[in-house]
Amino acid sequence: MIQHLLYIKRLNKHFGGNVAVADVSFSVEEKQIFGLIGPNGAGKTTLFNCITGFYPVTSGDIIFDNQRLNKRRPDEICHLGMARTWQRVKPLGSLTVLENVMIGAFSITSAVGEAEKMAIEQLNIVGLSDYATKPAGSLPIGLKKKLELARVLATHPKMLLLDEICGGLNHTETDTILDIIRSVRNKGTTIVFIEHDMKAVTSICDRIVVLNSGEKLAEGTPEEITNNPDVIAAYLGGGHHA
Ligand SMILES: Nc1ncnc2c1ncn2[C@@H]1O[C@H](COP(=O)(O)OP(=O)(O)OP(=O)(O)O)[C@@H](O)[C@H]1O
Ligand SMILES: [Mg+2]
Repeated sequence: MIQHLLYIKRLNKHFGGNVAVADVSFSVEEKQIFGLIGPNGAGKTTLFNCITGFYPVTSGDIIFDNQRLNKRRPDEICHLGMARTWQRVKPLGSLTVLENVMIGAFSITSAVGEAEKMAIEQLNIVGLSDYATKPAGSLPIGLKKKLELARVLATHPKMLLLDEICGGLNHTETDTILDIIRSVRNKGTTIVFIEHDMKAVTSICDRIVVLNSGEKLAEGTPEEITNNPDVIAAYLGGGHHA
């Protein structure tokens, strides 16, 4: 039987009368790069916020690595091996780039020297070593996104949830990030990837779920999704804005 690392089962999230996530189910296999796409307001970030414990779910189940995540705190979920990046990156601007990544490392070690060693390793992986001593707030957006990636990689996650990590980047910067994501997956990390850039999504994802108005509209391979008439009508036909 195929081992799934994450199961989302009939998940609902309501904000008052606004149904942000409506009865969504899917599961993610180990070492997959799994895409989550859909128009603005479809519920993608809300789903991440539920999975990572920032929002309580209205109903449904989230099972990660054989553990039920509902009602667990974000820090507990992080300790179980689930890390996420934020759509709007928010490094601690007055701390250095290295210190920001050490904060990630401190989730798995309390030894300062060890955290620093782990942080330096991640800065090498994302190509930010030259910026280690710079204040994080001084970085342009492209490098802030790399810093965000290094910070979560320093937690040595089993699963990484990426919320528009390529948002606001040019093609070259996007390609660099995609290469880093591929190598992270090749070392064994499972990835869920929210992104509007369809070229990036189809080039990197093994499987994709499409959300629309909180509901699951479709699920399949990149080829199945890009040829699905419902997906084309609701999302790919144009008119949406990243
Ligand atoms: N904290 C909140 N309180 C109330 N409503 C919220 C909250 N967070 C999200 N929503 C609502 O949930 C719905 C889904 O929003 P969400 O941010 O998850 O969409 P998204 O798919 O990530 O969109 P985008 O592509 O623009 O990032 C929207 O209607 C939004 O207004
Ligand atoms: Mg979002």
